[in-house]
Amino acid sequence: MKKTMMAAVFGSVLMQACTTAPAPSSPPQANQAAKPAAVEMNAKVLFENNNLGNCLACHSVVKHPELAAGNIGPPFIAMKQRFPDPAKLRAIIYDEQANNPDTIMPPFGRNKVLTAEQIDALANYILQF
Ligand code: HEC
Repeated sequence: MKKTMMAAVFGSVLMQACTTAPAPSSPPQANQAAKPAAVEMNAKVLFENNNLGNCLACHSVVKHPELAAGNIGPPFIAMKQRFPDPAKLRAIIYDEQANNPDTIMPPFGRNKVLTAEQIDALANYILQF
């Protein structure tokens, strides 16, 4: 009888220990990376965020000199006039290597860094530059 009581008490203590154990603490960013993230559709974020397009790593925007940008790729200027067909822009962002095998511009679509919808949003977004 006493033994059963002990076992019951021990059991419940053990249960409590397990249920009140703190969740493994990991930095929130690591948690987010583990989950399949919602597909980002904000074109400004896609354009500037260094986990996504990171276009500013290589391209400057002539209209926006305040944006810290690289100059590996051509600066964005007069995009609407220079690219009257947005399909051309989508193709460049999807895979510029198809057009220029030596380019260092990443093939965002072919490498599945960005979805077709994200590339569409970006192509429309950069037309304002
Ligand atoms: C690693 C550097 C790099 C990154 C990052 C990059 N590009 Fe490029 N991009 C280039 C280079 C270099 C070219 C020149 C074309 C070529 O080499 O064939 C280019 C060309 C372009 C062009 C044609 C511009 C013109 O005036 O002819 C567009 C549009 C473009 N990139 C859009 C983007 C967008 C949008 C992003 C972000 C999703 C991006 N690029 C990210 C390097 C980059």
